[in-house]
Amino acid sequence: MTADTQILKALRLAGEQGVSGAILAKTLVVSRAAVWSRIEELRKVGYDIDASPHHGYRLHGSPDRLHADDLLARLEPIKVIGRDIRVFQETSSTNNIVEKLARDQVSEGIVVFAESQTRGRGRLGRQWCSPTGKGLWFSVLLRPNLAPAAATQLTVCTAVAVARAIEKSTGLSPGIKWPNDIVFETRKVGGILLELNAELDHIRHVILGIGIDVNLATQDFPEELQTIATSLQIEAGQPLDRADLATILIQELDSVYSRLACGDFHEISDDWIRRCTTLGRRVSIRVADRIITGRAESLDEEGALLVRTDQGRLEHIIGGDVSLIK
Ligand code: BTN
Repeated sequence: MTADTQILKALRLAGEQGVSGAILAKTLVVSRAAVWSRIEELRKVGYDIDASPHHGYRLHGSPDRLHADDLLARLEPIKVIGRDIRVFQETSSTNNIVEKLARDQVSEGIVVFAESQTRGRGRLGRQWCSPTGKGLWFSVLLRPNLAPAAATQLTVCTAVAVARAIEKSTGLSPGIKWPNDIVFETRKVGGILLELNAELDHIRHVILGIGIDVNLATQDFPEELQTIATSLQIEAGQPLDRADLATILIQELDSVYSRLACGDFHEISDDWIRRCTTLGRRVSIRVADRIITGRAESLDEEGALLVRTDQGRLEHIIGGDVSLIK
């Protein structure tokens, strides 16, 4: 844990009571002058920390900027996801950064955020709009013990974790459109891009890329998205604390990932089914160059969508672009 993580953790824990320089110095095993110099640095990046002889140091506010040390300080103990966190001001795509970390044999659980992406990508080769400081654009490196065919389970788990985190931090309940769109009614607020590196019988690593439109106003979206996308700020009627949401998200992702590792996929997929806006609906799905039309009936053991076609066949769909038909 870095000195900044320890200081921010202690300040958050102390709240209005404050924490003295002497206690911080003792915890960090450094001089009081060294504590003071770290506090000065934190103030420079926007942390509102006051110092008084009576209360010691107190944290009154945090900047609207993601800060790896602060995210680590906010996290409750986690098992895998969030063991290490990095924040970039700008990058091409956080999935690219994580791909490089994976090739460098970094262990699973690292989370990479960017305040903005110049080449954010979505599913099916689409671009992902990632304006500076308005959303949560991040990727997670995983090395799950799953067969490649079961990778869809990770998408299901991720969508549930994202929906639960949004619910916890806003009180609003988003839906999930198969396979991985997080929606309010018909408008998309978040998406998941799972990139798999696998051999025939085992997964080498998975990159979970997650994008959530947090504090975007309608005009922050490109024109073609303005009628089909939304943000948490638009839905909640007020801006959200992105660092708070990021912390809850990491916590929820870690929790579903450990449930999945224990073989508890059913409990998670039941929640997915409750939140799903696709099941029971007539759908049309483009899979490669085929269009499948029918009724979305259920989800199978591996997270694939089961669609009863108009010809009566049951199709297992593992990917594609779903449109709901009225
Ligand atoms: C989709 O719904 O099409 C998936 C969108 C995924 C976007 C995220 S933002 C962070 C990560 N980096 C990327 O380039 N894409 C994912």
